[in-house]
Amino acid sequence: MRRLWRPVLDRLAPYEAGPSLEALQAQLGLTEVIRLSANENPLGPSPRAVEAVRAEAARAHLYPDGGGTALREALAKSLGVTAEAVILGNGADELLGLIAWAALEAGDEAVIPHPAFEPYWTVVTLAGATPVASPLVEYRTDLDDMARRVTPRTKVVMLCSPHNPAGTIVRHAEFARFLATLGSDPPLLVLDEAYRDFADDPECVDGIALLRDHPTLIVLRTFSKIAGLAGLRVGYAVARPEVVSMLNRTRAPYNVNRLAQVAALAALEDREHWERTRRLVIQEREFLTTELGRLGLAVVPSQANFVLVHAGERAAQLREILFKEGILVRDGGAVGFPGHLRIAVGTREVNARLVKVLERAAPSP
Ligand SMILES: Cc1ncc(COP(=O)(O)O)c(C=O)c1O
Repeated sequence: MRRLWRPVLDRLAPYEAGPSLEALQAQLGLTEVIRLSANENPLGPSPRAVEAVRAEAARAHLYPDGGGTALREALAKSLGVTAEAVILGNGADELLGLIAWAALEAGDEAVIPHPAFEPYWTVVTLAGATPVASPLVEYRTDLDDMARRVTPRTKVVMLCSPHNPAGTIVRHAEFARFLATLGSDPPLLVLDEAYRDFADDPECVDGIALLRDHPTLIVLRTFSKIAGLAGLRVGYAVARPEVVSMLNRTRAPYNVNRLAQVAALAALEDREHWERTRRLVIQEREFLTTELGRLGLAVVPSQANFVLVHAGERAAQLREILFKEGILVRDGGAVGFPGHLRIAVGTREVNARLVKVLERAAPSP
């Protein structure tokens, strides 16, 4: 019998996105379901991005600018790099795949914190390479452990700061030490900063500032979180132009669509919405942390737009109670933290409602 599929597919399961919001509303008989399970922007998109999409819709019959020139130039200007140092992706997700595709072969290794954002593992496995897990220590990325796992076979190191799902950061000083231990012939280093805009700890590592001195560094960012454009799928990588050139060889010609490009450009220019989102998330993260703590739930101090909550044996029950009230939170078990819930930061109204439901279900000790 002809073997049609690559054996590696036996080790992967299709991504289960779950039912749509509309299907859940119908199932629960509610007019509104609040999704706090996907780390989306509580304020929605910038009105300027919405307007840009509207205006661009009439040109939907035309292919987009395959080079994403206007958006790359605007990003380059705002980050203080050249446009050749920026590549756009259909979400940061796509860029992870392009990196793996460009760099990894059978026999190669990629060192990844564990748990961490699941697609790291998937793209490495799919490329035929071997993911090497570095366990978190008390919810934090253990860079000493990661460094110990780097061998001559390591082609890529992937990590995120703030970390998904823990919400913890990598500190600038420890990252600098980690880079130094990798020596003069380091692997590719993917620093995923999807949630960087929500960090207010001055010690949080800033990948862009490190690019000048570290030729194998690739910084990932996205318009899905801070800019509220998750539904349009725009992410970007910033790296040395020679690294970007390699990634461009694996990219489909029109990977970021016309509406996504204009919306991202408008969102980038709408600093007011950007800052309002940031302020709201930081303030409400504090509110949630305090209020959930008051209910006796242990909240991991977060620098992202979500909190990871330790609920022990009550986790499944609390998730179910919230679900019946039309509030979706992420099952920690599905992201490597059994007994936890990952809860995105919402508006004050939403957060207060969530706390109220939990208070009824789990009165303070
Ligand atoms: C750590 C991390 N990186 C990347 C992404 C993907 O972002 P995008 O929506 O741009 O594909 C996410 C999305 O949740 C994430 O949590």
